[in-house]
Amino acid sequence: MHARVEPAANRSTVDTSFVRLNAYLARAGVASRRGADELIKAGRVRVNGEPGQLNTFVAARDLVEVDGKPVAKQKLAYLLLYKPAGFVTTASDPQKRRTVVELVPRTPRVVPVGRLDADTTGALLFTNDGQLAHHLAHPRYEIEKVYEAELEREPTDDVLRTLAAGIELEDGRTAPAKARRLGPKLIELSIHEGRKHQVKLMCAAVGCPVVRLHRSVYAGLDLDGLAAGKWRALDRGEVEALKKLTGLAAG
Ligand code: URA
Repeated sequence: MHARVEPAANRSTVDTSFVRLNAYLARAGVASRRGADELIKAGRVRVNGEPGQLNTFVAARDLVEVDGKPVAKQKLAYLLLYKPAGFVTTASDPQKRRTVVELVPRTPRVVPVGRLDADTTGALLFTNDGQLAHHLAHPRYEIEKVYEAELEREPTDDVLRTLAAGIELEDGRTAPAKARRLGPKLIELSIHEGRKHQVKLMCAAVGCPVVRLHRSVYAGLDLDGLAAGKWRALDRGEVEALKKLTGLAAG
């Protein structure tokens, strides 16, 4: 089996089941990315028996060896964080704001699936399972996200119907959603798209700007028993359910 060797520009930028060899080695704790590049350049890294190159991409099934010794495969991890307000969903922020990765364990290294705005609270999944993350983010699988939105003013029934039917945004019409009233100025909106600032844009478009946004459910996972800022590992059944939702379950 040969590892993929392709110029980065020709690769699909969304297929996260393959990672660059230096990133693979860094995640496995062998060296920093730069250190891994040095190992690769020195010819000390082999992928499926062939010399690895700086533009080699590998997947979980590939055999990676350094100085003839197999690199231990990284354990797959799946965590659910109750994201508090005030943290940005990025690995590192040039403006030095606090990031969600500070709130989850460093090893194995996991990354958030999708994003929540800095002021949005709620369910945020982290994993190092690139294939699952890619599928969860893919529109084809219509992963449900449930939001509780506190609005600046009380929405009419008509407003709720309009939100559910779809709203014309700059990047096109939103897909049908579910909208229901939870309180005078509080609504629940269930959507299966993941456009940037989608809920805020939808609510603003119907004249009811969001003053507070919370994601209560992501892909069937809720925050029961978790406090803001805390995370928990998913159990095997929850991971299987996510795989089922995204067509990755065996059998
Ligand atoms: N929609 C938004 O507007 N913001 C979020 O953080 C998530 C969904």
